[in-house]
Amino acid sequence: MNNKNFYITTPIYYPSGKPHMGHAYSSIIADILARFNKIDGKSVFFLTGTDEHGLKIQREAEKNNKNPIEFCNELSKKFKDLTLTLNLSNNDFIRTTEKRHYESVKNIWNKLYDNGNIYLDKYSGWYSVSDEAYYDEDETETIDGNKIAKSSGSKVDWVEEESYFFRLSKWSEKLLEHYDKNPEFILPPSRKKEVVNFVKKGLKDLSVSRTSFTWGIKVPQNNKHVIYVWLDALTNYISALNYPNINDKLYKEFWPANIHIIGKDILRFHAIYWPAFLMAAEIKLPDRVYGHGWILSDEKKMSKSLGNILDPIEIIDKYGIDQLRYYLMKDVSLGNDGNISLENLTNCINNDLANNYGNLCQRVLTFVEKNCDNSIPIPSKRTVEDEVFNKRIIDEVDKLRSLMNKQDINNYIKTVVNFSFEANKYFNDTEPWSFKKTDKIRMEQIIFTILVQIKNISILLNPIIPVATKKVFKMMNLNPEDCKIQNINNNDILKHKKKLNEKNILFKKVENDN
Ligand code: ME8
Ligand code: MG
Repeated sequence: MNNKNFYITTPIYYPSGKPHMGHAYSSIIADILARFNKIDGKSVFFLTGTDEHGLKIQREAEKNNKNPIEFCNELSKKFKDLTLTLNLSNNDFIRTTEKRHYESVKNIWNKLYDNGNIYLDKYSGWYSVSDEAYYDEDETETIDGNKIAKSSGSKVDWVEEESYFFRLSKWSEKLLEHYDKNPEFILPPSRKKEVVNFVKKGLKDLSVSRTSFTWGIKVPQNNKHVIYVWLDALTNYISALNYPNINDKLYKEFWPANIHIIGKDILRFHAIYWPAFLMAAEIKLPDRVYGHGWILSDEKKMSKSLGNILDPIEIIDKYGIDQLRYYLMKDVSLGNDGNISLENLTNCINNDLANNYGNLCQRVLTFVEKNCDNSIPIPSKRTVEDEVFNKRIIDEVDKLRSLMNKQDINNYIKTVVNFSFEANKYFNDTEPWSFKKTDKIRMEQIIFTILVQIKNISILLNPIIPVATKKVFKMMNLNPEDCKIQNINNNDILKHKKKLNEKNILFKKVENDN
C-alpha cells in the first residue's frame, strides 16, 4: 500500500428491503471521495455491496415465501441498480453469498480459532435481529411492555444457546493504544470519544456463532454453527481484494483501506470488533473509520406535505442525480444528523446550481458563441486583476485537498461555490460586452480569464456533480482525461481557437410545489 493508492468502502447493506435515502447518502459520500482522489492522481478502489446472511434476512425471505438466496438475488439487484442510478464509480460490488467471500471468512475464522482467540461456551443474553447485535441488560429498556435496545429502539429477544466466543476482552488495551496512537482512526472526534469511553469500561468476549438458524457461513470445525453475521460481513472489505491470497495484486495494492465510510449506527462494529478481529488475525488495520450522522425525515411532517422524500429513486427521477448529490452534501453536515426537505432541495437547485454555477457556464459560453466565433479566444491583454482573480483558486488547491482528506465535504463545496459566485460577479463587473467595439482584445482576455475559472470550478465540482461537469467539459471541448486537479494550474488544456461544442442546459430551475 503506498500513498498513490486509495481504497474506500461503503457499508454493505442488508438487502432486507429496498434501498432508501440513508443508503444512498453513504454511497454518495464514498463516491465523492473516490472521485476526488481519482482526479487528484490516485489509483482508486471503491467497494460497495450487500450483506446477505443472518436471521434478519432469513426471516424476511420467509415472510416473502422465498428461499433466502432467491430473496437476496432479487433485492441485492435493487442495490446494484442503485449504484447506477446514483452514478457511483465503484470498482466492485460484493455479495456475501459469493464463493470468494466464503473462502475469505473461513480463512479468518480458522486463523482466529487456531491461535486461540475463539472458544466454545454458551451465550445467554439479549439479541436484536433487526440490528443483528447483542446487548447487555443495561443497554436495553422496556417501553409499553416491549424490551428494546436503547441505542436503536429495536426489539430485543432473550437468547440462550451454545456459541463460539471471540476473546474480545483480551484486546481492550491494544485497541485503546491504537486509538491513542492514531488520533484520526475514528472520525469525527465526537464518535471517537464515544468509542473510547465504551472500550474503557472494559469489553466482554463476543459471541461469534449461532445455532438457532442456518442461513450463514458454517463454522468450519462444527457445522451446527453458523458464523455471526458481523464477522462474516466485515470480512467483505478484504474478500473483495482476494484475501486470503495476500500476494494478490489487489490485496497488496489496496489493503489496508484508507477509509471505511459508515453510519454512526454501526460504529461499534467497525471501530471495535473489526480492528480487534484484524489484530487477532495479524492483519493490518484500516487507516480510518468515518461514522457520519443520520439523514432525518420527520416522518409525519414529510408524508403530508412532501410525499415520499426518502425514496432516492423518486427524487432522482424528478430532480436529477447531480441535484440530489449536491443537495445532500451541501445541506447535511457530514458528522451530524441533518433534516432534509423538498423545499430545501428545490432552493438549493435553484440558487446554487441553476442561478449560480449553471448560469455562469450558460452565459459565458453563450457570449463566446456570439462574440468570439464560438471558440476559445487567445489571451493577450492580461491584467493584474485577471491574474489575481485566477490565482485565488490555484492558491486554495492545497486547502481544498486537505478538506477532502478530512472528509469535510461541506466546506469544500462552500469554497468552490463561492468561486462560482465570484466568477459571475467578475463577468458582471468587467463588462466584457462593453469592449465589443472598442477593445476586442481586452474583451477576449476577460472571457479567457473567466473560461479558466469555469474550467477550474468544473474540475473541482466534478466529484460532486459528475454529470453536469462532464457536459461542461464537453461543451468547452476539453479532453475529460485532462480535467484533473493537477491541471488547475495548466491553461494549455484549453485549446485556443478550438470551437466549442453544442451547448446543453445544465440545471433547469424547479418550482417549489410544497
Ligand atoms: O447495518 N441516514 O446494513 P444497513 C444516514 N449490513 N445513513 C443511513 C440511514 C440514515 N437515515 N439509514 C441507513 C448494515 N444509513 C450492515 C452493514 S457493513 C460491514 C455491514 C446507512 O442496510 C448508514 O451507512 O442497515 C448505515 O450505517 C447503513 O446505511 C446501514 O445499512
Ligand atoms: Mg440497519
